[in-house]
Amino acid sequence: MKKTKSVILPAYNRNIIRAIIGLKTGERKLHDLKPNDVLIKMEAAPINPSDIAFIRGEYNVDKPMPAVPGFEGAGIVEDANPNVKGLIGKRVSCFVQGDNDGTWAEYFITNADNCIVIKDELAIEQAACLSINPFTAYALFDIAKEKGCDSIVQNAASGQVAESVRVFARMEGVKVINIVRKQEQVENLKSAGEEFVLNSAEEGFAKQLKELSHELNALMAFDAVGGEITGVLINNMPVGSDVVLYGGLSGSDIAGIDSLEIIFGNKKLYGFDLNKWIAVKNRDEFQEVANEIQNMIIAGDLTTKIQSSFSLDDIVSAIRTYIKSMSAGKVVLRG
Ligand SMILES: NC(=O)c1ccc[n+]([C@@H]2O[C@H](COP(=O)([O-])OP(=O)(O)OC[C@H]3O[C@@H](n4cnc5c(N)ncnc54)[C@H](OP(=O)(O)O)[C@@H]3O)[C@@H](O)[C@H]2O)c1
Repeated sequence: MKKTKSVILPAYNRNIIRAIIGLKTGERKLHDLKPNDVLIKMEAAPINPSDIAFIRGEYNVDKPMPAVPGFEGAGIVEDANPNVKGLIGKRVSCFVQGDNDGTWAEYFITNADNCIVIKDELAIEQAACLSINPFTAYALFDIAKEKGCDSIVQNAASGQVAESVRVFARMEGVKVINIVRKQEQVENLKSAGEEFVLNSAEEGFAKQLKELSHELNALMAFDAVGGEITGVLINNMPVGSDVVLYGGLSGSDIAGIDSLEIIFGNKKLYGFDLNKWIAVKNRDEFQEVANEIQNMIIAGDLTTKIQSSFSLDDIVSAIRTYIKSMSAGKVVLRG
């Protein structure tokens, strides 16, 4: 039975520091290939907010311990079950939450259906970050298009999903009200050409959001934070607004929603989950989106910002670097 070097999480720990320092590299046995399985020699895998939530035991996915974290990554298919042998030698990007062992490893086995074949021109770090965030941004923006929005609001606006949402919005002439939590992030977005940037840590933020969202008639917000800011969004956006909650970065329960805003303001709060979005797409539709996104990345129109790469053995430094400044870009583990 083949073995692989992997990052191993011995147990969940709500304390992020303890969760991180508990991570070690070690050997894991790889199971035999099942029908439709591919064996991928991993080249790169990012650290995402969902990975941080997972190692703390605060995510929607519960695995038997010890477990190998990592929900996304890219590499070359080295072996495959006979029914998917055509993938051998191909570079793929994958997004998997259900499998026992994750992508933070030298080798990773998954169902071929979880893989996107990567175009040759795509840089490996971009391929590693292809399968979650660009699709999430595409899908979120599609919800705004369906509602016919000319303007939208988004928080965690210095993050990578938000960056991609801005790209899709720019292409369609949709205005974006960006919400960040630090002054330096305001300045960075303004110097990158963003017209509307609010700082949620500033006094008077709710009033500014109210005025600007009403002025621009922004009827949709993408909320990656949850907690109190969800209440601020619902309470201050115009009548008929939707708030789409797709992340829980605050780690807090939603708070402070004025019931009257929901009842008489005809406002809606609902969730977005990429897994469910993928599940209802047929293979051709999904492939069409995958081609469009890859072509945009190759053309330089869509990019995941990468701040640094680390080896699997440097996992503790890698996660520390990422959580110190998530806005600086993704940290990628290189196989
Ligand atoms: N529902 C889905 O299917 C789906 C799919 C993809 C992503 N997501 C979620 O989308 C969110 C964004 O992911 P990403 O990859 O774009 O993140 P990212 O690039 O790693 O950046 C995270 C951003 O959020 C900010 N942030 C972190 N904690 C915050 C808090 N408590 N309050 C306000 N801002 C905070 C960070 O700012 P600092 O630099 O100041 O820390 C940073 O700008 C995550 O929650 C992720 O899990 C959900």
